[in-house]
Amino acid sequence: MIPVCRIDDLPEGEAVRITVDDHTPAIAVFHAEDGGFYAVDDLCSHQDASLSEGYVEGCLVECPLHAALFDLRTGAATCLPARRPVRTHEVAVIDGVLHVRPAVREDAVA
Ligand code: FES
Repeated sequence: MIPVCRIDDLPEGEAVRITVDDHTPAIAVFHAEDGGFYAVDDLCSHQDASLSEGYVEGCLVECPLHAALFDLRTGAATCLPARRPVRTHEVAVIDGVLHVRPAVREDAVA
């Protein structure tokens, strides 16, 4: 798992964007308003916008470009214009540090 930050450094309603390597799309890590931590692909499934720059509403994030909503728990697009989900990634808190395990891309070569 990849360490992101101390949980105290990511207030509720905020997000941070992380990059893993040249082959892995950037990941947006959120502290949602339900107190939970969630990670989804940073790139909106509609066009080229960074979800880490969006607006957190409960367990949803609103894309900053055209206001599509994504459920942070499932990655589902719950509001047009986005129709496709974004991938979710596993998160864990270990000794007060938030970690992310990037999901394996379906098009990745084994
Ligand atoms: S780029 Fe996100 S809704 Fe259009």
